[in-house]
Amino acid sequence: MHIDIITVLPELLESPLSHSIMKRAKDKGLLQVGVHRLRQWAVNAYGQVDDYQYGGGAGMVMMCEPLVNAIEHLSQSRTYDEIIYLTPDGEQFNQKTANQLSLQQNLLLICGHYKGIDERVREHFITKEISIGDYVLSGGELPAAVLVDAIGRLLPGVLNDETSALFDSFQDNLLAPPVYTRPADYRGWKVPEILLSGDPGKIADWRYEAAVQRTRKRRPGMAEEE
Ligand code: ADE
Repeated sequence: MHIDIITVLPELLESPLSHSIMKRAKDKGLLQVGVHRLRQWAVNAYGQVDDYQYGGGAGMVMMCEPLVNAIEHLSQSRTYDEIIYLTPDGEQFNQKTANQLSLQQNLLLICGHYKGIDERVREHFITKEISIGDYVLSGGELPAAVLVDAIGRLLPGVLNDETSALFDSFQDNLLAPPVYTRPADYRGWKVPEILLSGDPGKIADWRYEAAVQRTRKRRPGMAEEE
């Protein structure tokens, strides 16, 4: 999969995408991420990419021209399955959307800043608008990193144990069951006996039941969610 990201702050994306599982995905050639500095397409030598909003009011708006030039330039090299704008008023991101996006070949993510991007770019170029939650961040870079991580780890071959993503929270509308590691007794707090039994069938049943209980308690209603 190839993911391009257009941003005014590429530095913000460096670290989250350079370690751990994202690094492994890139090293294995399963995921390529291109981070593109919007100022390359600035409207003047000062690097301007934003301007005051029509109608007045505080806050700058990211201009059409740099964004459209960036999108059109990148679109010459590949056909994007989705051009996604990260914005607090988009549809809320969840595991189902991550699963769907992980099946695509080419994604383009646009990070907003300030008051956001000119509405005409949204109307004419953006195919999907995504929010990572009901709170406002200072820009779309951290949300873009969240998307790349959530999608990238689902690509076949990225996780060592292919099955491990299948048992993540939210797959099958269930939260993940509790997990334990050594020692079996820490300060008298004991690991559930069944996990030490070596009986895979019983362990699987226990985990399923524990996941159901946890989901009922913490996220009642999740089982009915789409
Ligand atoms: N940009 C600013 N806040 C955001 C959010 N919550 N989700 C996606 N993009 C954003």
